[in-house]
Amino acid sequence: MPVILIGFMGVGKTSLAYRLDPNYIDLDRAIERKIKRPIAQFFERFGEAEFRKIEHELLASYAEHKGLIATGGGIVEYAPNLPILEKNPQTIYLKSDFEDLYERIKDDPSRPLTLQGKVGLKELFERRAKLYEAVASQTIDVSQKTPDESLQALREVL
Ligand code: S3P
Repeated sequence: MPVILIGFMGVGKTSLAYRLDPNYIDLDRAIERKIKRPIAQFFERFGEAEFRKIEHELLASYAEHKGLIATGGGIVEYAPNLPILEKNPQTIYLKSDFEDLYERIKDDPSRPLTLQGKVGLKELFERRAKLYEAVASQTIDVSQKTPDESLQALREVL
C-alpha cells in the first residue's frame, strides 16, 4: 500500500515527498504526462470536472503501489477518491494555516484555482480541511515548522 500525502495547495507535499524519496510519484505530473499539457491549460480548455476524473483514474491505478505518492490539493473534491484515501493505511494530512498557504500560492499561474481570489480560496480551504481530516490516518501540523522539521515529523510517523 502506498504512503499518500494530502493537503492544501502550497503546504509542501511535493518538496517534502521529494526529500523523503526522490522516486516518489507526483500525481499532478503523472496527470500532465497523461493529458500531454500543463494542468492550467487543461482546466481552461476542458474544465475542472474532467480534470477530477483523470486525477481519480490515476489515484485508483496507484491504490496498491508500494511507495510514496504526493497528491494535488483537490484530491478530496471528488467523492470516489474519499474511500480510496480512507482505506489506505497511511494517508498523511499535511496541515497548515490558511494565511501562510495563501502567501505561497496567490501569484502562481500554474495553479488555476488561485484565480478565484482570497475569499474563494479561504472557503475552499475550510471545506477541504474537514475532508482531509476525515480521510487521513495521520495529521502533521507543519505550520510552525521549518522544512527540515516537517521532514523529521513525517519520518517519525512512517
Ligand atoms: C489543485 C491543486 C494542484 C493541482 C490542480 C488542482 C486543487 O496541486 O492538482 O491545480 O484543486 O487544489 P497542488 O496541491 O500540488 O498545488
